[in-house]
Parts: sequence; C-alpha cells; structure tokens
Amino acid sequence: MKHTRYSAVIVGSGIAGLYAAIKLEREVNLPNGLLIITKSQLIESNSKYAQGGMVCVMPENKLDSCTLHIEDTIKAGAGLTDRKVAEFISEKSAEVVKELQNFGVDFDRDENNKLKFTKEAAHSVNRILHAGGDATGFCIENALVKYILSKKNITIYEQTLAVEILKDSKNISRGLIAYNYNENEYEVVEAPAVILATGGIGQLYKYTTNPDITTGDGIALAYRAGAIVKDMEFVQFHPTAFALSEKGTMFLISEAVRGEGAKLVNKDGQTFMEKYDKRLELAPRDIVTRAIYNEMRQTKTQNVYLDATHIPEEKFEKRFPTIYATCKEYNINPAKDYIPVSPSAHYFMGGVKTKVNGTTSIEGLYAIGEAACTGLHGANRLASNSILECAVTAYELVNHLKTIDLSKNEFNDKEIIRLIDAYKNDNSFNQKVNIDNMFKELKELMWSNVGIIRNKEKLEKAKEQLEKLSQEFSLSYKCNTRNEYEMRNMLTVAKLIVNFALNRKESRGAHYREDFPEKEMIAKSQQYSL
Ligand code: SIN
Repeated sequence: MKHTRYSAVIVGSGIAGLYAAIKLEREVNLPNGLLIITKSQLIESNSKYAQGGMVCVMPENKLDSCTLHIEDTIKAGAGLTDRKVAEFISEKSAEVVKELQNFGVDFDRDENNKLKFTKEAAHSVNRILHAGGDATGFCIENALVKYILSKKNITIYEQTLAVEILKDSKNISRGLIAYNYNENEYEVVEAPAVILATGGIGQLYKYTTNPDITTGDGIALAYRAGAIVKDMEFVQFHPTAFALSEKGTMFLISEAVRGEGAKLVNKDGQTFMEKYDKRLELAPRDIVTRAIYNEMRQTKTQNVYLDATHIPEEKFEKRFPTIYATCKEYNINPAKDYIPVSPSAHYFMGGVKTKVNGTTSIEGLYAIGEAACTGLHGANRLASNSILECAVTAYELVNHLKTIDLSKNEFNDKEIIRLIDAYKNDNSFNQKVNIDNMFKELKELMWSNVGIIRNKEKLEKAKEQLEKLSQEFSLSYKCNTRNEYEMRNMLTVAKLIVNFALNRKESRGAHYREDFPEKEMIAKSQQYSL
C-alpha cells in the first residue's frame, strides 16, 4: 500500500471543508502540507445545491440582532438547541461573511449596492444573504474552489474515499486509509489532524434533495472509530421538493419562494396551512412538512402545489433563475401555473458530537459542517443556518489547530498496524453483493418506516429489515467498489437513526411518533458510541 504523510487531511469538499482548507493553508504552519480527499470531484458537494442562502446578522440590517436570531434558532430547535452554541455562531456570522467575501464570494446586492436580505420559514426578520438569486451554495462553492486551485501546496485526491480512521491504542486518531475507486488503489495517509467534512445522509431515503454523495460516510467512519454520535433521530424533511423530478434525487423549490409570499394549495387550489399553524407557510419546516403530508394523505394525492403566481414572470426569473429554468423544462411557468411539490429528506441535524471548533470525543479527529452535531439545530434546523454553521465551525477549527503542533505524529502503534493489516489481508471482499438491490431496499425501508411520521411498529420493522441487509452485506473491512463502501456506511447510519428513533418515545421537532404525539416536559439529547 502507498504510504504518505500530511499535516492535515480534510475529507469532503463542501463549504465547510473548502473554507477550512483555505484558512489552514493561510494561517497554520503545515510542514507536511494539506490533503483534501473528495469522493467525487472537488466542485461536487451537498453545499453546492443549497439555494435559499446563508443567515448573517449584519450591523447594517437594523431590524435584526443576534438576540432575535438566537431566539428564532432555539424556537425552531424544539428545546434541544444548545443556547451557548447558538450565541457563539450568531455572534460570529458577520465575521465569517466578511471573510468569505474576501475569498471571492459575491452575495446579491440591490441597485444601491447594499446587501439584500431575504426571509425563510421561522425567521422573524429578513436576514438571509443569497447569491446568484437562488444559487447560493453553488456561488460560494465555486469561489472557494477557484481560490483553492490557485494554491500549489494543497494536494487534492478526487474519486477517493476515506475508508478507515487510523486510531492508535491510546484512542488518538493518527490518519486514515484512503481508497481511489477509479484506480482501485489504497493509500495509508498519516496526519495528526483528520477532518471529516463529508456532509449529510439524504441518500438513505428514497426521496431526497441531496446529491448521490450524501451517504453519511464521515458519521459512519467516526462511529466505527468509537466517536460519540448525537441526535441521530433528527432527519429534516424539506416541505417543497419539485414533485416532477424523475429520480429519487429531487430538485429543491427553495423556502425563499414562500419567503417571497408563495402559498401552498391542495389539488382543488385551496390553501390549507391555516388549519395547522398561525405562521402559515412560514411555520418551521417540520410543521409545514407534516401539514403537506397530512393534506396529501387526506386528498389521496402524491403532491400539493406552490402558488407563486402573484410574482410577475420577469421578477421570478431574476430572483429564482435556477428554479425558473427547471420549471420551464417541465412546461411550468411559475407566474401562471402552480408548482407541484412534496416533502423530501433534506438535512441531518444529528451527527458526530463536536464542540463548535470541530473537536470530537477522539483526539486528532475533527468533524465540521453537516457531518457534525454541535447542538445548534436541536430537533429541527432553522432555514439557512446550515451554511453559517459550516463556515463558523471551519473558522473555529482552524483557530484550534493553530494551538496544535502538526509536525508530530506517532504512527508506530500495534492498533494502527492491525487496522492496516485488516485491509491488506482481507480476502472476504470477493463475495458477490447485489448492491443495486440493496440500495433500493434500504432507501425504500427508510422512507416508508423511518420517515416523516414514525411509530414503534414501523421502526421495529425497519430494524429487522436492516438486520437482514447487514447479514447479506457482511463486508467489514475491504469492499470492492465505491457503492459497497457507501452501503457499509449507510447501514451503520441507518441502524443508528432507527435505534435513536425507537428510544425517543415522544414527538419533538422533525421526529414525529404517532404513538407518542406529545412532547416530553424535559428536552434531552441522546448520544451513543461503540
Ligand atoms: C431552501 O432554500 O429552502 C433550503 C435552505 C436550507 O435548507 O436552509
């Protein structure tokens, strides 16, 4: 096996990973250089598809304040948001936005060159910055990629997965094993800082707004290594994915469209949100999602509609160019026609338990962005807090790494040798697995039994089916393909979600149990490690 040495390795190339890479390269002494590993291409990530925007409490936005933003975040989080984390992240928002702008990110401005702020569900004021109209994630990602490509001392491995964290006998992470699935080559990467920025888990579900890379890789890797995971029952379903999308990966119709006044209507053109919440279309995401789900059940339909016909066509096209173009591809003119929408898995509030600086329960192992659970989102994330969290956790991680000597790494350890040998000597991987069927089965069972509305019977059924799939898929170390490694990770994360969901005998935020529809008096997070 090839063997290399770096000062730090970042797994994942979304906004959290790229922003951390840029700051590390600029601000930290990296005697052995920096490696970015990405499963697809550098530009591909879940962040890239974020439409709505990025929360920022800016001094020039006179209607807003950190106090207001913190309260909105805590309210949406249904009792599980960590107030201190919310305070920290909110107070850092203006600083990270300024820095992103210095790295080439252009947020949208009005005719007077003032930043534009929009609104999404459960925000009490307009405070969301956006770029390219509805292409915020893409614009940020693109600017950061450009910056990184101009730096010679960052090494980039594309089409490469991290498959094992190399933790020593003292419980310290010392590096990882990487697998390039194009070349079918393994590599031992020594690094005193291993940073997981692998994004979310949307692909565990039959319907998701997330791209095909979102298979919970970082969470599964950290858990395998013994890290504590937290809040794993909380999967956010976005209310309005484009119902005509042809594959399981659904195009998103941003909440910002409702922020601009669009209404939800049923098949008869009647509004229905007034039956569910006085905040109507701008109630927190979990409430709107369940309202739509309920309406679909009652009217026996596969979707409801978004009525944005009050927005003139030219204005819609300018404000939401990506959504407009996609609707037009399907012969829908948002200024004249209703847009068919239905809920879809969108974001994971749970993940590797971390502090706001990305430190996990394992020394040397860090997690940032969606793979991490800082406690900001609680049981339900407030819209557009995710990119903000990616940026602030990356920012703080780099501040933390400035205090660590990244030139030293003790690699000669019997546990590390055992792990490397497990890959070198594992011959069981030749067994044939029908991976396409397994993907289908897992996604279907998660959607039907561990979705928007849960109960004990469905969760027990999912647990049983996952057990059967795990027996069928018995590869524990070496796998043959990218998809097999993804399946290994998906099974790990799916089982954790089901177990956490079975244990939470109440309904809170995005976790709704029809057999326990009430909230417990005291809100408590769950966490677990191997
Ligand atoms: C959206 O644009 O509706 C999604 C924004 C988010 O997930 O925060």
